[in-house]
Amino acid sequence: MFPDGVDTDRLYKAFDAFRRYNEAAENDILLPRRQLASTLTRPEEDRLREMMNQRLNACENLLQVNGKIAWLIHEQGRSWLQWGVDTTFDPASQGHLATEEDHAIVRSTIRQIWRDWSKESESERYPCHQAVMEDVQNYSQRTPTEGAKRILVPGAGLCRLPFNLAAAGHDVEANEVSYHQLLATNFILSYTREYAKHHIRNLAKSDSQIHLSRNGNQIEVYPWVTQFSNHVKTDDQFRHYSIPDLCPVDVLHEVPSFDFSSGTLGIKMANLQINGRDFTKDFQGPEHSSAFDILATVFFLDTATNVLDYMRTAWHILKPGGQWINVGPLLWNCYENGPGGRREGDVDDDENARARQVNGQQAVAPGKQWDMKIELSNQEILALLEQIGFTLIRNNEDMKQAGYVRDTTSMLQNVYQCAHWVVEKPAED
Ligand SMILES: C[S@@+](CC[C@H](N)C(=O)[O-])C[C@H]1O[C@@H](n2cnc3c(N)ncnc32)[C@H](O)[C@@H]1O
Repeated sequence: MFPDGVDTDRLYKAFDAFRRYNEAAENDILLPRRQLASTLTRPEEDRLREMMNQRLNACENLLQVNGKIAWLIHEQGRSWLQWGVDTTFDPASQGHLATEEDHAIVRSTIRQIWRDWSKESESERYPCHQAVMEDVQNYSQRTPTEGAKRILVPGAGLCRLPFNLAAAGHDVEANEVSYHQLLATNFILSYTREYAKHHIRNLAKSDSQIHLSRNGNQIEVYPWVTQFSNHVKTDDQFRHYSIPDLCPVDVLHEVPSFDFSSGTLGIKMANLQINGRDFTKDFQGPEHSSAFDILATVFFLDTATNVLDYMRTAWHILKPGGQWINVGPLLWNCYENGPGGRREGDVDDDENARARQVNGQQAVAPGKQWDMKIELSNQEILALLEQIGFTLIRNNEDMKQAGYVRDTTSMLQNVYQCAHWVVEKPAED
């Protein structure tokens, strides 16, 4: 049995969505385009139909390659949870059928593997992660005698930032409400050379849908294969990247294990703890009071329905003298203003925007055009923080621009001029 904090219906649906990646991609991505191609019946449309079909056939093959990664995530997750999930258990047949939203989140999660765990996306991650690392370092230098700092990273996605902070020697807790992302994180953190050498390479010998990197130690992922707009060259859609860019076990010197001590789904790996806690609801208790030296949020603040709830939680969990480091945009209302909302016509941007905001927790009803959130400017946020009692330590108006799962060769370039600030909960006299 799982602890009460695990929402088994949501978890099983996440499993089901990874397991049926190919089927959903076929239905959601390929089928409507194939139907469109089949309407091109006039003789002068032959070449056009041929082009479309060629592209769709290539997509079909590569979606299956991504689908294999999704299947490996599913397989790894099931063995990870073997005491909680009977291996013959089929969530879908028990009524836990993945929703359209689950499938969209899984596709977005596969792209996010590129964001967090490929070498090529370092330039996207670096401005944000480096800003946090430097602020943490400054804080540590100011308070050198107290040993490893306890850092909380909520909304951690695929957990590269918490991993980097743990690798730098800090004691890190990351949380992420999306089971899809927790399952993918578990897969990446568990990815060892041995796993690649024995399991993946053996599978690849008989399975042409598993693409290995040249050195045979990594898997190839195709993040833009579901993206049909704004390509300069046809092959841009089919670019592939080797993941993960490093073996986490080599860095943290410990194999991850499942961990339910938080009362939710969790992973423990050396000084890194990851769990499915919700930052709004699960940090109110006395056990979390003044528990952390640092709160680090990256591309997270705008997931709040009422940002004051996040601020109150921040105040509660930080030790006196502790700091909150924040980097990210304020994309409150992705339906109206974000990539999907602009109706640029591309499913990837739409799915990324939706997944980064709601992750299936608050699925938006069809026809509802915007998230019910309190949409503040950065200036208003800083004013509220001061009103609560935080002291502004730094307001960096010179952050480098940063994308979010951005294909740098695309004709459309979404970049954020991120806010970057540090506030402190004043030390007690
Ligand atoms: C835009 S993503 C950012 C992920 C990661 N920080 C990054 O920079 O790639 C925001 C994440 O916050 C998660 N999230 C949203 N609300 C949350 C909450 N209340 N508690 C914990 N995680 C939450 C979402 O599931 C999503 O993965």
